[in-house]
Amino acid sequence: MTNWVRAHTNIALIKYWGKANDDLILPKNNSLSLTLDAFYTDTKVTFDQCLETDLLYLNGQQQNLAALDKVKKVLDAVRDKAGIQTRARVDSINYVPTAAGLASSASGLAALAGAASQAAGLDMPFEELSKLARIGSGSASRSIYGGFAEWLKGVDHDTSYAVPVDKADWDIGMLFIIVNDAKKEVSSRDGMKRTVDTSPFYEGWLQSLDGDLSAMKQALKDQDLKRVGQIAERNALKMHATTLGAQPPFTYWTAESMTAMEAVRSLRRQGYTAYFTMDAGPNVKIICRQSQLAELKDLLSEQFAESQLIEARPGPGIRTLDPSEALQEKGD
Ligand code: ADP
Ligand code: DP6
Repeated sequence: MTNWVRAHTNIALIKYWGKANDDLILPKNNSLSLTLDAFYTDTKVTFDQCLETDLLYLNGQQQNLAALDKVKKVLDAVRDKAGIQTRARVDSINYVPTAAGLASSASGLAALAGAASQAAGLDMPFEELSKLARIGSGSASRSIYGGFAEWLKGVDHDTSYAVPVDKADWDIGMLFIIVNDAKKEVSSRDGMKRTVDTSPFYEGWLQSLDGDLSAMKQALKDQDLKRVGQIAERNALKMHATTLGAQPPFTYWTAESMTAMEAVRSLRRQGYTAYFTMDAGPNVKIICRQSQLAELKDLLSEQFAESQLIEARPGPGIRTLDPSEALQEKGD
């Protein structure tokens, strides 16, 4: 059975930055994210006896071996569980810029976990799907769920997976300022490894995480957007500070990122509840009231082009597309 499966991207409010186990992708710390409606990936997997190797087609283009690496890990785990050896063709469409710090690896590998397990005839509960997605890309473990999700770091494959947190059914949204959607120079994977291995600031980052996580969980329970924003912004700044101490040092920030961050501070001075977060890329995401997304977009359009500003609301978890829906959207 080959169905298209859709998974949405998620943006971490408490970041995952560093692995305790590179092979299994076990993180150094728990992380917590919001899955969003605006960006997603659709993936279909076809196991085919005629294939000699796995193939990945991303947005219609055949991908090289490096891109296949993460995908193969997920396919191998599925084959192992299903007791098959058959190679697969993976077709995937990213409705999100790839490798630009907009979390394509999260939606991409989560959709793959769903599509591959289905194609192999496995009926996996969400917790198992989360572990499977994690093997491909850590942040993908959280994209199995809609709304808020926490990735529990665990100590081995069976204990490291994401779980849903409180419902995101209140007035929270994100406004993306896309300053550059080109492929970044340092991938999240390489960036976090270099930081863990060489940055003297990494220990300080780690030590501050338990406090950030419990404060964030309480703020979410209280549906207190201001506190959510304050904690998330500081958490992101601390994460980015670690990269400056790495050897060689690096940063994902550009002059445009700084301009965008300043624009968010200016919104705050005007009385809006608006805080920013950033991932492994130059783009800035504003945590704000969902009910004020249009107003904030309007204000920022004096400084940024319309196409740079994307509204996002809490999004759904992974789901299989209805064949007619997939047919309609893909045009095939
Ligand atoms: P991002 O910020 O977009 O998550 P990363 O560097 O973390 O950037 O991950 C990008 C990588 O994730 C890509 O180079 C590719 O290897 C993988 N990836 C992205 N989208 C998909 C997809 N739909 N299917 C399979 N792999 C994908
Ligand atoms: C900054 O999940 O892309 O977005 O596990 O190596 O594939 P790998 O890394 P990835 O890293 C995401 C890092 C981050 C923070 C986060 O999403 O928590």
